[in-house]
Amino acid sequence: RIAYVNGRYLPHSDAAIHIEDRGFQFADGVYEVCEVRDGLIIDLTRHLDRLDRSLRELRMASPMAREPLKLVIREVLRRNRVRNGLFYLQVTRGVARRDHYFPAAGTSPTLTITAKSVDPQPARARYETGIKVITVPENRWDRVDIKTVGLLPNVLVKQQAKDAGAQDAIFVDAAGKVTEAASSNVWIVSADGVLVTRPAEHGILRGVTRTTVLEVAASLSVPVEEREFTVEEMLAAREVFLTSATGSCVPVVAVDGRTIANGHPGSVAAALRGAFLHIAE
Ligand code: PDD
Repeated sequence: RIAYVNGRYLPHSDAAIHIEDRGFQFADGVYEVCEVRDGLIIDLTRHLDRLDRSLRELRMASPMAREPLKLVIREVLRRNRVRNGLFYLQVTRGVARRDHYFPAAGTSPTLTITAKSVDPQPARARYETGIKVITVPENRWDRVDIKTVGLLPNVLVKQQAKDAGAQDAIFVDAAGKVTEAASSNVWIVSADGVLVTRPAEHGILRGVTRTTVLEVAASLSVPVEEREFTVEEMLAAREVFLTSATGSCVPVVAVDGRTIANGHPGSVAAALRGAFLHIAE
């Protein structure tokens, strides 16, 4: 495997950054994950738009203009022979002697990109059987709209889910409303057949897959409401599913040990997934 590190393509085992990188010391960095399917990068433009937004919100310099960045991404995929899989791109505020204040102007951001192939077979199994989730109290900061590498709460709840025999965790805010899962957005099909997902204004990351699935739903004339919903409503839903770049419409068949509907993946998630538009750049 080959990784891109600040202008160089290195063997994965040698790819390293300095111990005083601010990503390492402060989680002072942002990232994107994109799916690659049949050699096409899914929703690349939207991911790069969101990367730009994350950088802006944190007043972080952009490491590279968009066109050269796309060339580097494609080169990493090519060198790793990825036709189906993903790439991971991370930008940090760079290397500087540890100090909470931003480093001096002119400090170069750190750009790293890795890519890997994903075996489609186990990935497909998730869609056939669905996954189990637990709910956990929302305990993250107020800026989860920024895709930062500060993912400790997400890591802890995902492990908590695994320890409980589930696969994922769904955060629930103080008002009892679902925010999102540890690394994906949450959707329900309500008892009256309406597709519901939380508005992206507050409390969640505006998932790229979420945006595309909203478009897919419109194209299929599936009724949609962007509104908050409670755990009780989720438990009573016809369907629950998750979306992210690493899984479009992953069905959830149990929440906190309680079966959703008949315990089998639902038809709306399957239809949306089937029609999921491959917007490749
Ligand atoms: N996670 N919410 C959170 C907290 C996420 O981490 C992600 C993505 C999403 C879905 O966003 P998108 O559809 O743009 O992938 C929502 C990535 C896949 C990850 O951390 O691996």
